[in-house]
Amino acid sequence: MKIIETAAETKAEVKRLKMQGKTVGMVPTMGFLHEGHMSLVKQSVEDNDVTVVSIFVNPTQFGPNEDLEAYPRDFEKDKAMLTEAGADIIFYPSVDEMYPEGAITMVKLASITETLCGVSRPGHFDGVATIVCKLFNIASPDRAYFGSKDYQQLQVIKRMVKDLNMDIEVIDMPIVREEDGLAMSSRNIYLKPEERESALSLSRSFEIVERLIDAEEISADVVQLSVEEFIAGYPHTEIDYIEIVHPERMTEMEKLTEDFVVALAVKVGRARLIDNKFFSVKK
Ligand code: PAF
Repeated sequence: MKIIETAAETKAEVKRLKMQGKTVGMVPTMGFLHEGHMSLVKQSVEDNDVTVVSIFVNPTQFGPNEDLEAYPRDFEKDKAMLTEAGADIIFYPSVDEMYPEGAITMVKLASITETLCGVSRPGHFDGVATIVCKLFNIASPDRAYFGSKDYQQLQVIKRMVKDLNMDIEVIDMPIVREEDGLAMSSRNIYLKPEERESALSLSRSFEIVERLIDAEEISADVVQLSVEEFIAGYPHTEIDYIEIVHPERMTEMEKLTEDFVVALAVKVGRARLIDNKFFSVKK
């Protein structure tokens, strides 16, 4: 496995491999890898001749009061996990490499970034779209793999790929959960033992939605309020948002007569956790 720190060398290496007719899969990450990331890497290794994993804690997607400095990092452990999984290249650039002095271009999407995390984390998706666009330009992947936990991010990336005519297949992979249902996240490390039970309120709340849908409830407000009451009933929880949205447009739904996504962002102690579930509505 090669570790490459510059964009130019990564481009040259990918070009060389593509000239040999090899297909390239990419898994963009911010490191501190867990089983969720590894499911993406394993899928990429299975689908492609070459897998490039980027590890870069991207400063432009963090707000001024967010956890950029504290974001967990462990490159040696990541490297061992990626070697074991059969990744071929780790692209591990510095901030200066990705944002050299004078860089002023950003990728900005409208509408779908104006709800959910786009409201509570202003500018976040501009940072995500910009870095993912740059990573795609550097590694020229045929396929790119993203987890569905960051559901809105996934829709943003799919939309960007479509709108900018990028020749990349975006593959979404299911959320990987701990045995107790907590969605895997690098930020779970912030949870104190006494907060762990409260963190489960997110995934458990989907059972309430299921029950309401089975009882043919169609009011999004009723479902939203029930989830809110349930999560607020746990100690240490501070709800950022509970939204019921259209699966692609990310716009709020009023009547649950077509497929929808329940998207949650809840602070549990220091950890801001997100989770979501897609619900298919029988017509
Ligand atoms: O999901 C993440 O880890 C990041 O948002 C991504 C896609 C690697 C961009 O920095």
